[in-house]
Amino acid sequence: MSALKPPFPYFGGKQRIAEKIVALFPEHSHMPHLSEHREIARSSYLGALTEQDHNPIEIDRFKSLLVAQAKLQPGYRVLDVGCGTGTLALMLKQACPDAEVVGLDGDQKVLDLAAAKIEKAGFQIQLQRGLASEAPFEAASFDQIVSSLVFHHLTTDEKQRTLTRLRTLLRSGGELHVADWGKAQNAAMRTAFLAIQLLDGFATTTDNVRGMLPILMAEAGFQDVHETHREMTIFGTLSLYRALAP
Ligand SMILES: C[S@@+](CC[C@H](N)C(=O)[O-])C[C@H]1O[C@@H](n2cnc3c(N)ncnc32)[C@H](O)[C@@H]1O
Repeated sequence: MSALKPPFPYFGGKQRIAEKIVALFPEHSHMPHLSEHREIARSSYLGALTEQDHNPIEIDRFKSLLVAQAKLQPGYRVLDVGCGTGTLALMLKQACPDAEVVGLDGDQKVLDLAAAKIEKAGFQIQLQRGLASEAPFEAASFDQIVSSLVFHHLTTDEKQRTLTRLRTLLRSGGELHVADWGKAQNAAMRTAFLAIQLLDGFATTTDNVRGMLPILMAEAGFQDVHETHREMTIFGTLSLYRALAP
């Protein structure tokens, strides 16, 4: 688990925030040469924050808002796309034990960590390795699809293909619930988000900060697309979205 620790520890005082963000950059200035473990840490960076006792952007609380928004019902089949180490999938299962939760991720190493965490918690969650854009499930086989902090890892083309695929996996009337970086509310949020962009790349994160996620959802055929919540964090604006499959 040490390989999945974020590159800086929790910091509390506001006066230390700038200092800690600056300290982030040297860690990643050599990213092309990251070891395999560091690469996992990069791709799972924000998911890994949830492993800490404290985290500066309260990702767990944001995930709780996503779980509350989903309003799972017993008997529902729900897919967590880009499930990482399984934190959100477990929260969904704990919120509604009689729902079937399936986790999908492209990275077998994080799925192995998820499997261990789920087993320790005493729940059953099917884990599947695969790309979100090619999610290997039958059409219309899910009541809900959730995703947390995954879309900002995808290029525009990958976002489009993923959203189109997810729409086909939902039954008519099924719901998509997404938590991710959203449109910057102001100049401070736009500046704060530069840390995430340096970390995860401009090619995948720019759609998010420009507020393109709901537009891409509508273009993929989702209806009733809404940003249901947004809040400012030290890394930029986090948003929740909800969309319906026609
Ligand atoms: C920042 S982590 C978020 C993990 C988890 N959803 C959470 O919120 O804690 C992003 C996850 O998305 C996965 N991922 C990124 N692109 C993916 C893709 N195209 N298909 C499937 N999984 C992907 C990564 O392997 C990683 O586990």
